[in-house]
Amino acid sequence: MKNIIKFLNIVCTIAAGSISLISCGGVPEDNKVLASTENVFSVEEVLEMVAKENDVTRTLYTKAIVGKGKTQGMKFDEDWRKDDVEAGPLPALFLRGVATSIKKSPVPLGLYLGSDFPINAANKFEGKQAVLFEQIKENQKPQFFYDQDQKLHTAMFVDIASADACVTCHNNHTQTAKNDWKLGDVMGATTWQYPKDSLNYKETIAVLNSYAKGTVAIYMEYLDEIEAFEKSEKPVIGDKWPAEGNYLPTAAVFLDSVKKLASYETMKHLVTTK
Ligand code: HEC
Repeated sequence: MKNIIKFLNIVCTIAAGSISLISCGGVPEDNKVLASTENVFSVEEVLEMVAKENDVTRTLYTKAIVGKGKTQGMKFDEDWRKDDVEAGPLPALFLRGVATSIKKSPVPLGLYLGSDFPINAANKFEGKQAVLFEQIKENQKPQFFYDQDQKLHTAMFVDIASADACVTCHNNHTQTAKNDWKLGDVMGATTWQYPKDSLNYKETIAVLNSYAKGTVAIYMEYLDEIEAFEKSEKPVIGDKWPAEGNYLPTAAVFLDSVKKLASYETMKHLVTTK
């Protein structure tokens, strides 16, 4: 129960500070708790929360934007940033965009997507992370360790082929290191790093917010790219999704869906682990 309250306080604080429509009626305003400098979450708990948020964002982007968008004729490409390519970011590049934005923020959170059979050789796990990835492939459970060299608490979470789009694109890619991926396979893992072993409310909220802001930043870059399309038909940007036609949600609509899905996931996680 204590954790649910902690969680609701966080969700509501984020909701108050950013574009989110989560209703916070009924949750007591406990500013003393929020202002407390007491470290209430372990780094593992916080990285687990942000990883859940990432799972939801990634699946939503892959299925609802890339998967459905393709059926509407929208294009997604690894060279999406090039001037002559009129396309949106692939899911992995969407994630890298989030990671880049976090890196530019004052929050010392690191994010990386790796695999043992990568398309991009730079994404191949090495050292301790390669060893732990073998464990993840066996039981799909998160792995935590302290990286002595970098002095960073490190958490790794499974990245599963959760949509047909993951499998077909990876299997058919000219640079793929493996062409028999199946739906449900462990395709890789996200690695998250943070320098401290425990966090207070403010720091926890800063971590979750930096992720959400990163999502909005890369999504806005995608919408800006569309704005500059010269040859391709531009989707209508508003409150509709590609499943309904040649539409794309605004960044606010996209983030709102993430928040709704992720809060449920995060809550489920907090309820079941405590
Ligand atoms: C339309 C093509 C496409 C789709 C869809 C796609 N990927 Fe990828 N993925 C790529 C490309 C290209 C890269 C390499 C990007 C880079 O340069 O880092 C990549 C990178 C990755 C990596 C890092 C290791 C590597 O292969 O370089 C993982 C893990 C991964 N994708 C998993 C997934 C999962 C899981 C999904 C579905 C949720 C997915 N991908 C959907 C094309 C795709």
